[in-house]
Amino acid sequence: MSKLVRFGVSLEEDLLVKFDRHIKQKKYTNRSEALRDMIRDELVKKEWTENKEVTGAITLVYDHHTRELVTKVLDVQHDYHECILSTQHIHLDHRNCFEIVVTKGKSKDIEELYQKLKSIKSVKHAGFMMATQGKDLP
Ligand code: NI
Repeated sequence: MSKLVRFGVSLEEDLLVKFDRHIKQKKYTNRSEALRDMIRDELVKKEWTENKEVTGAITLVYDHHTRELVTKVLDVQHDYHECILSTQHIHLDHRNCFEIVVTKGKSKDIEELYQKLKSIKSVKHAGFMMATQGKDLP
């Protein structure tokens, strides 16, 4: 772990009040920890916009009775097998399935995979979470 550095920040009082209220709702106990997380979030977003090697998770909810849907979901996943680490399939009830696709690779490929899965007709919901491989993140 690198050494801690203290620095001063000047900002409008109203903004600080809003910030403190916000981080309290998010259960932070101090500003430093909240700021660290915000900075890390920004750096992870930057990895994604610069097409770096990243990780991420895609979630899907669909009705497996819908004709051709499962085949399409699988076809797309096979097209992107190089950036899929694992897929977990949960049967929510008689009809609905929940799938978590864990990805690792170039951010552009993962975003493309997400868009292709999301745009398959009859997918009820598709979610997306950006993450990092952590190598360039202190
Ligand atoms: Ni299922």
